[in-house]
Amino acid sequence: MPGAVIVHHHTRYKTYPGEVTGIVVFSCLIASVAGCIFGYDIGLTSGLTSTEPFLIKFFPTIYEERKKQVITNQYCKFDSQFLTMFCSSLFLSAMTAAFFAGGITRSFGRKWTLFTGGSAYVTGACLGGISFNFPMLLAGRLLVGAGVGLSIHASPLYISEVAPAQQRGMLNILFQLMITVGILTASMTNYLSSKIPGGWGWRVAVAFGAVPAGVIALGALAIPDSPTSLIQRGDTATARKTLAQIRGVGDVREEFDDLSTASQDAMAVESPWKELLFGGKYKPQLTFSILVPFFQQLTGINVIMFYAPVLFKTVGFKQNASLVSSVITGTVNVFSTFVAIMTADKVGRRALFLQGGTQMIISQILVGTFIGLQFGMSGTGAISEQYAMCIVLFVCVYVAGFAWSWGPMGWLIPSEIYPMAVRTQAMSVTVAVNMFFTAFIGQIFLTLLCHLRFGLFYFFGAWVLLMTLFIAMLLPETKNVPVDEMAHVWKKHWFWRKFVVDTSDARSAEMRKRIALEMS
Ligand code: BGC
Repeated sequence: MPGAVIVHHHTRYKTYPGEVTGIVVFSCLIASVAGCIFGYDIGLTSGLTSTEPFLIKFFPTIYEERKKQVITNQYCKFDSQFLTMFCSSLFLSAMTAAFFAGGITRSFGRKWTLFTGGSAYVTGACLGGISFNFPMLLAGRLLVGAGVGLSIHASPLYISEVAPAQQRGMLNILFQLMITVGILTASMTNYLSSKIPGGWGWRVAVAFGAVPAGVIALGALAIPDSPTSLIQRGDTATARKTLAQIRGVGDVREEFDDLSTASQDAMAVESPWKELLFGGKYKPQLTFSILVPFFQQLTGINVIMFYAPVLFKTVGFKQNASLVSSVITGTVNVFSTFVAIMTADKVGRRALFLQGGTQMIISQILVGTFIGLQFGMSGTGAISEQYAMCIVLFVCVYVAGFAWSWGPMGWLIPSEIYPMAVRTQAMSVTVAVNMFFTAFIGQIFLTLLCHLRFGLFYFFGAWVLLMTLFIAMLLPETKNVPVDEMAHVWKKHWFWRKFVVDTSDARSAEMRKRIALEMS
């Protein structure tokens, strides 16, 4: 049966026969657990550094210094660059692993990258959980970081490749949903494990990450690799069989042929890194691979994810109440992600970005203003209960806005805009930029808060305004467009069309013919 054609913004895109089968859902679910281990570490990071027995064991000097410090200015908290560096080490390790992930994903496939990532994480989490000195702890953290980097590289790519184009947004956002579940699980584990008598609860919290990571490693053995990846590695017979299996129809000729053509184009590229970074052909896509993760971190989301308990304590909550508040924001984060799951393939990526961005700007201005009105520039005074409630409320509105815009789109867009030839390399760029700025924001947050005071929220608000304008003007809509037909969206775009290089010249046609001959 030939594929149907759907009209999308006056351009006709193919829809291939097939449906969302059980195996696609299962495979996407397993791959999306990668988000869970990433989110778990984002949430765990803040908990660990405020756990006294953990600090006494590994950072005794910092613990003593922190205890001695008398806080007179609410904006200026105790800040140890060394302790923050320890937290950042995980994200920097993930950043490094992301570069290796490109090669592993290309040579061994998405499935084995997930397996390796899950296994590295399990080993690191166990090592961290039983560590009795700092080198062991650090080694565990670096391994966990490598596991995160590998898995979050392969997961969005894998999902975007196995999902049918019509449901790609929905299935890909499972990855973001799992990130939010991981963050929430960590907030709860932090809280519960701190209640374990004897001061070793943190070991449970650290080692617990091995559970979802084990699911990824074992699950990876049970799922098929993506047909794209199989074709790319020359196993066309298995690729055809897998495609038929995941689409649930016998005749997948058309989609298979298109994938094979895309693969021939990919094979014509000798050095994908050179092609991606210096070939000049991917300027539009590369702009998004770099700016989307950069902007995602500049929304300031991880200020809330890492520092919600610190922030809520600043506005006058007691220890328990501030932990509960981070569970509240974590819950809002999870449930708001469903809005994106339900709507990304219907209203499109742009609408979510624009609505979510506007909502975030407004709530950031309000949160900054509430804090400023109570603490002023000096950071002295106390916040009334009503004000504190308003702040929590608008932090939740902000988190909700993020959860259906920059959160999921930050991973979806970079995974769906590239042709096969440079897709894995481009994903390495995205993961690396994301990890670098996650670490960077974590590193500078306390200094920024001390200097910018309530203006910190205006600072991030201004960034969100800038990125929302960027999206409004420059992001083409990608909903429902098959990944391998994505080139059209750039050719049609008022700005990017100037940068699109037509590859159908004689040389590449010749090259394609040669490769087709070799393949047959
Ligand atoms: C971001 C994380 C963030 C999380 C919050 C993810 O998309 O990459 O940095 O902590 O969303 O839900």
